[in-house]
Amino acid sequence: MKKTISVAPMMDCTDKHEIYFLSLISKNAHLYTEMIVANAILRGDRNKLLSFKKVLNPVTLQIGGSNPEELAEACKISENYGYREINLNLGCPSKKVQKNKFGACLMQEPDLVARCIEAMAKATKLPITIKTRIGYNEVEDFEFLKSFVQRTKDAGSQKFIIHARKALLKKLSPKENLNIPPLKYDFVYKLKEYFKNDEIIINGGVKTINEIKDHLKKVNGVMIGRAIYHSPYFLADIEREIFGNKNVPTRSEVMENLIPYIQEETSKGTQLNHIMRHTVGLFHGQNGSKVWKQYLSKNMCIRDADLQKVNHIMDQVKKTKPVFLER
Ligand SMILES: Cc1cc2nc3c(=O)[nH]c(=O)nc-3n(C[C@H](O)[C@H](O)[C@H](O)COP(=O)(O)O)c2cc1C
Repeated sequence: MKKTISVAPMMDCTDKHEIYFLSLISKNAHLYTEMIVANAILRGDRNKLLSFKKVLNPVTLQIGGSNPEELAEACKISENYGYREINLNLGCPSKKVQKNKFGACLMQEPDLVARCIEAMAKATKLPITIKTRIGYNEVEDFEFLKSFVQRTKDAGSQKFIIHARKALLKKLSPKENLNIPPLKYDFVYKLKEYFKNDEIIINGGVKTINEIKDHLKKVNGVMIGRAIYHSPYFLADIEREIFGNKNVPTRSEVMENLIPYIQEETSKGTQLNHIMRHTVGLFHGQNGSKVWKQYLSKNMCIRDADLQKVNHIMDQVKKTKPVFLER
């Protein structure tokens, strides 16, 4: 089985613009959309929610919901938009998500989860996969995790992404739930030992190439969220060191390659700041990265930003190349 690196679904972060931007840095990473609620796909502006510019990378649509009929219909509708897979969110702990009964609280209802996955798998030819946690509230027990994953597998899930910490549904805020419950990678490694022939992806707290390499010895793939959103050029290191790609574009080239997309999107009415906000961390860790961030927040992460300003900063970047040290 091929080893994979994926970028985690992140609400308000991994929208279609972020997906395109990341595809300019890495051709090999598997990209996930932010969670889109099944009901929104049924009743909202489908094209706006689902369409994205085609890229070489596999792109997965992540859906949230707990009504089997709605989820099935959402899968049918989404099938022809170019996604490689549809993932069901069984890991998000936010109060709003719990009120609507989707995300991590569904770990408490394996029967309902199984019905959802069966309905989704029946409705589409695309593979259905899940993203979940190692446990919830006081439940942090390998036997529970194993039987939960088995249940989703029997229902039709073809891949299992495990955020290696439990969710405390009542006690913690969503942000705390991403940091406070301790990471327990051993649960995921043990799951892989049990589900030898299945695709098990580990997620949570991965920040370095060495950590990725260590995890890949034990599981089929690593999913990374915040480390890439805050510092997107980390994906370039991954391209080079994990995928052996010797032709990774420089940071400036990534920005230059983004310009035609910006032109295309802004001519359709997309606000420039909706694209540029994702580039804030591009020069993270480089000399002069502050200048880039300040320029963006002053000129481009605002409502009436315009393309002239992108061209201006690109000229600055080129002129001050030693400041924005490459690679
Ligand atoms: C801003 C933000 C939004 C998130 N939104 C989602 C989401 O829509 N669906 C989901 O399954 N997980 C979501 N997550 C959780 C991430 O997918 C991931 O599991 C978590 O951040 C742990 O990985 P990391 O330590 O590499 O960031 C979100 C995380 C963050 C920080």
